[in-house]
Amino acid sequence: MKQPSKRVLVTGATGFTGGALAKKLVERGDHVVALVRKGANIAPLEQLGVELVFGDITDADAVSKAAQGVQIIYHIAAVFRTAGHPDEYYEAVNIGGVKHVIDAARTHNVARTVHCSTIGVHGDIEELPSNEESPFNPGDIYQRTKLAGEQLFAKAMDDGLPGSIFRPGAIYGPGDLRLLKMFKQIKRGFFPLFGGGTNLYHLSYIDDLTDGIILCGEHPNALGQRFILCSNEYGTLKDLAATIASQLGVKAPTFAPPIGPLMLAAKACEALCRPLGIDPPLHTRRVEFFVKSRAFDNSKAREMIGYQPKISTREGVKRTIKWYQDNDLL
Ligand SMILES: NC(=O)c1ccc[n+]([C@@H]2O[C@H](COP(=O)([O-])OP(=O)(O)OC[C@H]3O[C@@H](n4cnc5c(N)ncnc54)[C@H](OP(=O)(O)O)[C@@H]3O)[C@@H](O)[C@H]2O)c1
Repeated sequence: MKQPSKRVLVTGATGFTGGALAKKLVERGDHVVALVRKGANIAPLEQLGVELVFGDITDADAVSKAAQGVQIIYHIAAVFRTAGHPDEYYEAVNIGGVKHVIDAARTHNVARTVHCSTIGVHGDIEELPSNEESPFNPGDIYQRTKLAGEQLFAKAMDDGLPGSIFRPGAIYGPGDLRLLKMFKQIKRGFFPLFGGGTNLYHLSYIDDLTDGIILCGEHPNALGQRFILCSNEYGTLKDLAATIASQLGVKAPTFAPPIGPLMLAAKACEALCRPLGIDPPLHTRRVEFFVKSRAFDNSKAREMIGYQPKISTREGVKRTIKWYQDNDLL
């Protein structure tokens, strides 16, 4: 039997991206350790033979225990627009958790630590396509804490921590549930393109992304660097909706109501719900989905570490639909 080549830690392995990464690492023969929370869906990791360490990223001792003896840490865990969390929780997970990962990496002399950020740290992009050096302009608590976590990690790299940072676009593909609603609405024939859908949208297909993440963990040129890990192509939201519609065999959405009233309604919902501590049914950040433009140049990752996204949006959408259908979701 092939010997495990490396012992690696993946945080966030019960989630979409971390789970796909853990699976790929196991398939290549690595010994994967995952830091998981009690109550999380661990069955897929157990089936893969992943070693589980129970604990929370906000618990420094648990993170340190999970990092013992590993050569690479892939820090993927984050709180990502989950309903009902106060700002302090985002800070504890997306900033405090990064600090614990850095401390654990130092304590255990981990050879490489890879930190997952997001293109969302750039906010709405003025200069298109944007790149790693473009200004930061985070728009909400998720993006603000992801940026602070990234900056903490970058400072640790400046101080000698061997590591690298990657920023994915909107991650999609088999296993993703975040874009499912859009696919369902398009299939039903009602996906309003608020504001016209002319904003640019940049995706990262999961299988290409996990290849890129492993390059960040293993390629010598990745040390001390930050990379955009997006697909090779980007397009308008309207084009993406049309691609999904064509793969589903339905009519492309064209109904384009104005964005203003929707944004006003979202602001009113947030203002009413916040003092009551309830999650608003409509968020301004959901409305921003129809407004903010995101388009990036991935050439730094292609040239420095050989990142090679292979899946076109059309093919990625096709595979995603198949997965939704195979799992009776669509
Ligand atoms: N999805 C996107 O479009 C996108 C785009 C850009 C960047 N990103 C970044 O990519 C990463 C993965 O995103 P994803 O969409 O795959 O996320 P996801 O499916 O929501 O998974 C998040 C993971 O983080 C874990 N986690 C959350 N809070 C934790 C805590 N306190 N302690 C330990 N583990 C905790 C979750 O564990 P449980 O299972 O216990 O909840 C889960 O395994 C994140 O860093 C995110 O910021 C995502």
